[in-house]
Amino acid sequence: MLIEERKNKVQNLAAQFIPIIGEAYVILDEDSLNHYAHDETENLHFLPDVVLKPRTAEEISAIMQICNAHKIPVTPRGGGTGLSGGALPHLGGVVLSFERMNSIINIDERNLQVITEPGVITEVLQNAVKEKGLFYPPDPSSKGSCFIGGNIAENSGGPKAVKYGVVKDYVLNLQIVLPTGEIIWTGANVLKNSTGYNLTQLIVGSEGTLGIVTKIVLKLLPYPKHDLLMLVPFASLERAGEAVSAIFRAGFIPSALELVEIDALKIVKKFVESTAVPVSDDIEAHLIIEVDGNHPETLLTEMEAIAVLLSEYDCGEVFFADDVHQKAELWKLRRRVAEAVKLDGYTIEEDTVVPRAELPALIRGVKRLGAEYNFKAVCYGHAGDGNLHIRIKKPGSIYSLNNSEVIPALKALFQLVKSLGGTISGEHGIGLIQKEYMGIIFDNTSLMLMKEIKRVFDPNNILNSGKIFNS
Ligand code: LAC
Ligand code: ZN
Repeated sequence: MLIEERKNKVQNLAAQFIPIIGEAYVILDEDSLNHYAHDETENLHFLPDVVLKPRTAEEISAIMQICNAHKIPVTPRGGGTGLSGGALPHLGGVVLSFERMNSIINIDERNLQVITEPGVITEVLQNAVKEKGLFYPPDPSSKGSCFIGGNIAENSGGPKAVKYGVVKDYVLNLQIVLPTGEIIWTGANVLKNSTGYNLTQLIVGSEGTLGIVTKIVLKLLPYPKHDLLMLVPFASLERAGEAVSAIFRAGFIPSALELVEIDALKIVKKFVESTAVPVSDDIEAHLIIEVDGNHPETLLTEMEAIAVLLSEYDCGEVFFADDVHQKAELWKLRRRVAEAVKLDGYTIEEDTVVPRAELPALIRGVKRLGAEYNFKAVCYGHAGDGNLHIRIKKPGSIYSLNNSEVIPALKALFQLVKSLGGTISGEHGIGLIQKEYMGIIFDNTSLMLMKEIKRVFDPNNILNSGKIFNS
């Protein structure tokens, strides 16, 4: 269908959406549509034809029945903070925005569970359960603006994942609307479930391609009462990488174990105007290490033991964050790295993940490939999980999508990752920008199975079509 033809069709259909959700929530003016044309991935811009802001699963079901009958592309969108282009309406059509589905339905203190709508900001949800002494650990850097529904779609992680796991480890049950309009629950609100195929976990991380999540049941934990945080400089980035797996081998499980290469730290320090961390020319990287629990003395003993261990890896002087302000400052620096280095020209972000002990080999390989393919790279991220974000600056190339200058370099990087036993996304998803590389990771049989699953859920291929793979 020609673009103009489809656009006219969608605008005519807008008349059918108005009785379902009300005129105020059917957005057609270009200024407003522009807001939904991009996310936090590369410099990409795809204007939707219409944005719909439903309030209930039933409204979404009615919308999907119309879209399915007319084969209109539908792209679900959360907070718009995605890093793989999953919420970009690259085929135009309808964007379904969850802004109005933003209620926390019930915090079940008896069972340590929460039932929420998808449009709740992750940090709002975390704070609401924290007030009851409960803990929802997954904490992506964008937690202050991303939506919990988007986190489900991408199976997000964040620093706490190293001890507490990622989003999938907390999702017990989901209400979803299928592309054909049926509303179902995928599981049960229980901690164990061996009943049939695990539809819940199939939906988690499916990037809004199989169904539209409208209610979410999450497991919670008791909130740990104490935490300690330290920053450890290393003269060698690779040695910092080696130290990471040594910490676990020595019997410790930190609640965060992050790595930040010095160039990234210098950029983010300037960006947030922080003087909290001194940087000097003899430092190549820092580890940020947190331990948490209920007994402060145990934590102190652990932290000291980790510091002693790290001295075997040629670390410099350890900086202990003494109070909540110092801790907040350190975390602010870490969380804003991606944003800061992007503005500094490192426009392409990768989300590689390797078995933890292969981290030094990955770091070495990235630097070698940078020299070979003429890009600069800064590394940072969730070293404890072997999940390294690699931000790339390549003269003349500000994005990777369909960019023949960048694709060979990324292919080489991902082949390296694969040879180390890793994969190309730990927590950002494949979306639009990584689908080119799925063939490096999966054989045809596996890809065919995924495409068949997509077809069963979405026979007309209308829901976030062309994400993860070309279907
Ligand atoms: C981070 C995001 C980019 O770890 O995943 O900062
Ligand atoms: Zn991350």
